[in-house]
Amino acid sequence: MNNPTLTTLLTHRSVRKFTAEKLTADEVATLVSAAQHAATSTFSQQYSIISVTDPHKLAVLGEITGHHWLESAGHYFLLVADQYRNAQLAPKTDTTIANLHSADKLLAGIFDAAIATEAMVTAGESLGLGSTIMGSILNDTLRVISLFNLPKLTFPVLGLAVGHPAEKPALKPHLPQELVHFDNDYQPITADNPVLADYNRLITAYYHERGSNQRDETFTHHIITEMSRDPKQRAEILVALAQQGFSLSAAD
Ligand SMILES: Cc1cc2nc3c(=O)[nH]c(=O)nc-3n(C[C@H](O)[C@H](O)[C@H](O)COP(=O)(O)O)c2cc1C
Repeated sequence: MNNPTLTTLLTHRSVRKFTAEKLTADEVATLVSAAQHAATSTFSQQYSIISVTDPHKLAVLGEITGHHWLESAGHYFLLVADQYRNAQLAPKTDTTIANLHSADKLLAGIFDAAIATEAMVTAGESLGLGSTIMGSILNDTLRVISLFNLPKLTFPVLGLAVGHPAEKPALKPHLPQELVHFDNDYQPITADNPVLADYNRLITAYYHERGSNQRDETFTHHIITEMSRDPKQRAEILVALAQQGFSLSAAD
């Protein structure tokens, strides 16, 4: 099966090198419009998008993420889970307050912001733009919150650098469908799964052949590396969630 939408979706790659050309106001508005047309939990539209154009703020984000190249991207967006706006609309009763501060509504805001982000990525790619989503803004969540004056009941979710691509990275092979798509029941896996072994060989070949940062790598090793990071590095996220008024306690 093939059509232009599928081609865009099936040829997605993150782009981390851009030309100096900035996005036009029309392109920025089109990406925001794509975000706004994405599905949104309970039609509550519980996210906000901040265009970051202030060079100082971009430099701070470059420092926090370690991705200094974002400072010269064609445009930078910050996607924020946002229950604050809706809190202004609802009368302050015990019930509305409990709802707005709940883990349920926190998740809903995160879903909305993440789905909106992906809509922007795909819309950008359909226009010939490239992008990289950045969860690394959460390397210093409290600083991001203060940098953008995020009020209580908001939370920074993702950054998104967009621009005119100055590279065309090789497509990354993703897991075989039989490891991610099951019929009716969850299918557990063990580390010695032969399909996984084949995929590990595919990933090794990909990392040997790709244009930059070539190395010996398997998916299994990649996951072990990811799992071996010091969890304290981002322990601040819980502090930030509490500061922003989100309650994660089952007792509440
Ligand atoms: C939630 C999320 C957070 C991400 N954070 C970062 C990031 O901080 N820095 C980065 O370079 N890429 C980031 N990425 C991009 C992934 O590294 C990338 O999607 C993945 O390696 C697959 O490569 P591809 O997008 O080229 O297919 C993120 C992607 C997602 C979905």
